[in-house]
Amino acid sequence: MNVRKQSYITGRGAGEIAASIERGIRESRLPPGSRLPTVRELAARLEVSPTTVAAVYRDLGRRGMVSAAGRLGTTVSFRPPVATSWRPVFAPGVRDLASGNPDPELLPDLGEALVAVQVPPILYGQRANDPELVEVARGRLHRDGVAADHLTVVGGAMDGVERALQAHLRTGDRVAVEDPGYPGVLDLLATMGLVPCPVAVDDRGPDPQSLAAALGRGVSAFVLSPRAENPYGSALDRARAGELRRVLDQHPEVLVVEDDHAGEIAGTAPFSVSRGERERWVVIRSVSKSLGPDLRLAVVGGDATTIARVEGRRLVGTGWVSHLLQRLVVWLWSDPATPARLERAARTYAERRGALLDALAGHGIAAHGRSGFNVWVPVAHEDGTVAALLDAGWGVLAGERFRIGSGRAIRVSAATLAPADAERFAADLAAALSTAPARIA
Ligand SMILES: Cc1ncc(COP(=O)(O)O)c(C=O)c1O
Repeated sequence: MNVRKQSYITGRGAGEIAASIERGIRESRLPPGSRLPTVRELAARLEVSPTTVAAVYRDLGRRGMVSAAGRLGTTVSFRPPVATSWRPVFAPGVRDLASGNPDPELLPDLGEALVAVQVPPILYGQRANDPELVEVARGRLHRDGVAADHLTVVGGAMDGVERALQAHLRTGDRVAVEDPGYPGVLDLLATMGLVPCPVAVDDRGPDPQSLAAALGRGVSAFVLSPRAENPYGSALDRARAGELRRVLDQHPEVLVVEDDHAGEIAGTAPFSVSRGERERWVVIRSVSKSLGPDLRLAVVGGDATTIARVEGRRLVGTGWVSHLLQRLVVWLWSDPATPARLERAARTYAERRGALLDALAGHGIAAHGRSGFNVWVPVAHEDGTVAALLDAGWGVLAGERFRIGSGRAIRVSAATLAPADAERFAADLAAALSTAPARIA
């Protein structure tokens, strides 16, 4: 979106200009992805020097508000670190295959757990982690081949990723990330002043050669999703995890962050690249997708130094994750009904994903989605395809937010798409693909 003609970017000095842009972002007049004027244009309009505007853009970039988008110039970040009222909304009647949420029908009913959970008053200064939660989590990680002597509890996968990175990295450090990958991670890096370094992915996870190349350029950390990779749907198998481990063994100082955000409902077995055997590592298991996003809690296994730093930093901030929440997760994980419920959820998501992939294949459309909620469909024209699908009543996401250098695509979340509807969607996508180029010409 070009906002060249809009005049609410004002000010005579760098501070005022930056504040007016931040206000524009906050008040949604500069929505995510919108393009700012070029340095020269804005300098001419405000009658300030180009150096001043360049300094403003640099400062906003350092704070994660905007990003340099190559030939596109400077654009507002997709998730700028300031509260905005901007929300993607679909017109009534449009099927939302964009949100990436779990199906509420497949989440546990919390009624019984809320009645059963008993927590004595917890006061300041008491231990941060529920010992039973730590024990259950350790057992689960151990069962999956991850030796986690040191373990802590955080507020979800993204909280874990941020805290692990913060434990070791400083502004300007480079981080290897999946491409395409989760925009939440890209936005987080921007906010922390860290520099993403793309690693190609295929159906079996990050590509070892591409990872080796990124590591060769000097990165301090590698963030990956071992399964339910968002948006590509890739998942490690044993062989790929081993290949990546051997590549990483050449760089023992690199922090490896494994974001297992989907956990048991990913539909594929857990494989860990680090297995708890590196100098700096964390494996993060969130319950957001399996038990519900509002229970946003994750357990983090890691090396002694990283976990101690995470806990020390947390102590001066939020202190701990509510023990009510921790006990709730212990209760749900210990409930005899939970394993069958999680298996059913994993099976249902896999069926929905599989039905969509089959229907697309029936129309000659190649797509990816081995694990998790999402299917990634390479297309020649992202915006045109998204717009044509919207006309047909389907809301999906353009791949742009997920990509650094990888090819164009759309992301379709199959989490709530019944197999019976998959064929209709595939037919509409096939029609959209035949008309999309014309629409954006
Ligand atoms: C790769 C990835 N990591 C993390 C998250 C968020 O997890 P949490 O809610 O536990 O922070 C998501 C959400 O979709 C995701 O796709």
